[in-house]
Amino acid sequence: MTILVTGSRGRVARTLIDLLHAQGRSLRAGSSDPGASDPPGGIPAVRCVLDDPGTFRSALEGVCSVFLYAGRSADAATSFAEAAAAAGVRHIVLLSSSAVLEPGAADDLLAGHHAAVEAALRGGPVPATFLRPGDFAGNALQWARPIAATDTVRLPYPDAHTVPLHEDDLAAAAAAVLTAPERYSAPAYTLTGPQSLTFREQAELIGAARGRPVRVEPVSRAGWMAETSIPASYAEALLDHWRNHDGTPVATTATVAALTGRPARPFAAWAATHAAAFS
Ligand SMILES: NC(=O)c1ccc[n+]([C@@H]2O[C@H](COP(=O)([O-])OP(=O)(O)OC[C@H]3O[C@@H](n4cnc5c(N)ncnc54)[C@H](OP(=O)(O)O)[C@@H]3O)[C@@H](O)[C@H]2O)c1
Repeated sequence: MTILVTGSRGRVARTLIDLLHAQGRSLRAGSSDPGASDPPGGIPAVRCVLDDPGTFRSALEGVCSVFLYAGRSADAATSFAEAAAAAGVRHIVLLSSSAVLEPGAADDLLAGHHAAVEAALRGGPVPATFLRPGDFAGNALQWARPIAATDTVRLPYPDAHTVPLHEDDLAAAAAAVLTAPERYSAPAYTLTGPQSLTFREQAELIGAARGRPVRVEPVSRAGWMAETSIPASYAEALLDHWRNHDGTPVATTATVAALTGRPARPFAAWAATHAAAFS
């Protein structure tokens, strides 16, 4: 009854592996670079590249359930589901995104591949559950270097809202759905943090956690584009996403509590455990 956790160097997968390992589950860590995956307790690491179907068969041998990151290709997701069915896999839990619920998701650069992979699995031979998180709390780590160096973060939409979700809550929700599929049998779960917060409010909470206030400096879209290392097309899509939520609170869900039995962790708790990164 082995569970394959793909993308095992990822933030969510690493925590998920720790949780399932602590429960004594039989695990396999899939990664594009298994040598660097370094799972705990002698868990075997195997090569599993989500856009390379040639790696699927051996990764899936003897596996009953899979935690799957969404690769970039719907065709590869179809191949993955076929290989999983052939291996006897009974359940796939996909790390998707709540962006698939937004209007025009299919053509959106941030949401499109999630929507396409969902569609491929929905029609596939293995039952699948879609976890649809909103923005991760850990996205704030993009601000760590400027805040540590200058006490300042430059933001194009400081009053844009997100509902920052602690990655550990997402991992705990994934563990619940993977290990009790008969209990958590909805086709999809939308997960958020407990509170809609503007970026300005998140910066304030980081300032409180590190014991030194953070200045928020507005920057134009063009100015931010010039400063970021994110590829231009993604940067544009992100800017549009933030503009759509500028000054508009985002709805929260109670899904983390329903799946894990504990309320979702507030952003302040995330900031407290990551304060050193901003100092
Ligand atoms: N950030 C958000 O706000 C947000 C919101 C909704 C959905 N999502 C989705 O969540 C997923 C990202 O989740 P995450 O934060 O757990 O992933 P992550 O830490 O960003 O890593 C993503 C994947 O990159 C690979 N990787 C390549 N080089 C790596 C390295 N040096 N260190 C760590 N991993 C490396 C890993 O797969 P291998 O081990 O196979 O190489 C890993 O699973 C994406 O599909 C994204 O679309 C994100």
